[in-house]
Amino acid sequence: MAAVCVRPLRASDVRQIQSLHVRLPLPKATSAHPAQAQILPVHYSHAFFTQLLVLPSRACLVAARLDHPHSPVAFISAALHKSPGLPRIELLTLGVLPAFQNRGLARRLISAVIDKLHGPLAAGILVHANVAATNSVALKFYKNIGLRISSEVIPNLYRTCPPGQRDAYLVAGRIDTISI
Ligand SMILES: CC(C)(COP(=O)(O)OP(=O)(O)OC[C@H]1O[C@@H](n2cnc3c(N)ncnc32)[C@H](O)[C@@H]1OP(=O)(O)O)[C@@H](O)C(=O)NCCC(=O)NCCS
Repeated sequence: MAAVCVRPLRASDVRQIQSLHVRLPLPKATSAHPAQAQILPVHYSHAFFTQLLVLPSRACLVAARLDHPHSPVAFISAALHKSPGLPRIELLTLGVLPAFQNRGLARRLISAVIDKLHGPLAAGILVHANVAATNSVALKFYKNIGLRISSEVIPNLYRTCPPGQRDAYLVAGRIDTISI
């Protein structure tokens, strides 16, 4: 498998990363995983990516093969919230193309985005994200890196999605080098 590097989003990447956000292939259909369920259920505007490029409290990293540096295969975007209370990182979007999944890339991206926004992972930080209730792969992934899944669903968080795909869970917890 080709080596992959992780680097900050560049303005020249935006169009490709924006399209990657909407064209991540869907998982195989199962009863718990309807084929029509969207993986990233929100439309991400150009302004969303501009904010990732310019706001110091936001970051977006992309992963690309060393031999194809201009064709990203994965991305993560996140925001650092310093108040109220303890600093926390909100994971906004995360996606890895299927051919690059299950080799630790998402974990690597989470660790790198924490490092960029907050500092070395060793210190640990509170991390949270919203995940579509139908996205069992992502829910399992977040659980396995130490985040807890809220007991109650957030109804209609993704209002623009078709009925049956609008609910989400909050996943949250402290992440450090041991959990990742
Ligand atoms: C959820 C998602 C981001 C995970 O990405 P990923 O790169 O496959 O994640 P990782 O490789 O870090 O971890 C996945 C599994 O691979 C395993 N793994 C990690 N490193 C590995 C390696 N070097 N070799 C083999 N397996 C490895 C992990 O143990 C993990 O298994 P587990 O979840 O049973 O613990 C990916 O499935 C995805 O893009 N899904 C579609 C988009 C999506 O749902 N995004 C989240 C919405 S909020």
